[in-house]
Amino acid sequence: MSSSADLQETTKSVPCIKILTLFPDMVRTVLETSIPGRTERQGQVRYEVVDIREFSVDKHRTVDDTAYGGGAGMIMMAKPVVEAVESVRKNDDATVILTTPQGETFDEALTLELLDDLQLKGELILICGHYKGIDERAIELVVNREVSIGDYVLSGGELPALVVADALVRRIEGVLHNEDSANNDSFTTVRGGGLDCQWYTKPPEYRGLKVPDVLLSGHHGKIAEWRDEQARERTEVRRPDLTKTDLTKNEEKSQKR
Ligand code: ADE
Repeated sequence: MSSSADLQETTKSVPCIKILTLFPDMVRTVLETSIPGRTERQGQVRYEVVDIREFSVDKHRTVDDTAYGGGAGMIMMAKPVVEAVESVRKNDDATVILTTPQGETFDEALTLELLDDLQLKGELILICGHYKGIDERAIELVVNREVSIGDYVLSGGELPALVVADALVRRIEGVLHNEDSANNDSFTTVRGGGLDCQWYTKPPEYRGLKVPDVLLSGHHGKIAEWRDEQARERTEVRRPDLTKTDLTKNEEKSQKR
């Protein structure tokens, strides 16, 4: 049995994703579910969810105000954001990400980069942006990366932060039971940065639609060839932009996994 000092040491060495939010219950619920939840229960990652309102400026738990210079929409104040980060940051070098539509676009290469960063520094801090934006001084003081999950505007940064956390934890070695199921997903090196092929399960025929014969043949070489071909075709038809993906930036990392 481990002593409490051992346990503390173990907890410390488990990388921690820290999410700063105005909706802690929503964030916790998602992190407890499915693969992110299982990963924490297996001791491969930890989560800390911080309520930014704990650092509000008054008894009404205010965290936002109108914009200097006018304009519609409320701005999140610098103080609660900066102090929330300072309260959870254990490593001064930790990467602090703000989720915002103005950030760099999140993709599989960035997933692997942030996972390396998390494992190296022991923590990764995600601030869920809200309202119209956050006071630029908070960004200057504590944020070192801004990440967008796509060219659309959501009502808050919670879903984007959870997207980042989910994408990261499923790439931690040993999290997915069958390692291959992460390796040949869409956007991986095995798929040349393109899309995955189509998949089937039992029964072999459903409403007149049959599973392709090759998948029932038991011939592993032919099956792999067929899947590669289907994945290539899908990518060309659905996402021709991906056929030009430069994999050099994440190739080494993907191959390690
Ligand atoms: N906050 C609102 N919309 C967002 C987006 N698309 N990506 C990241 N954060 C956001």
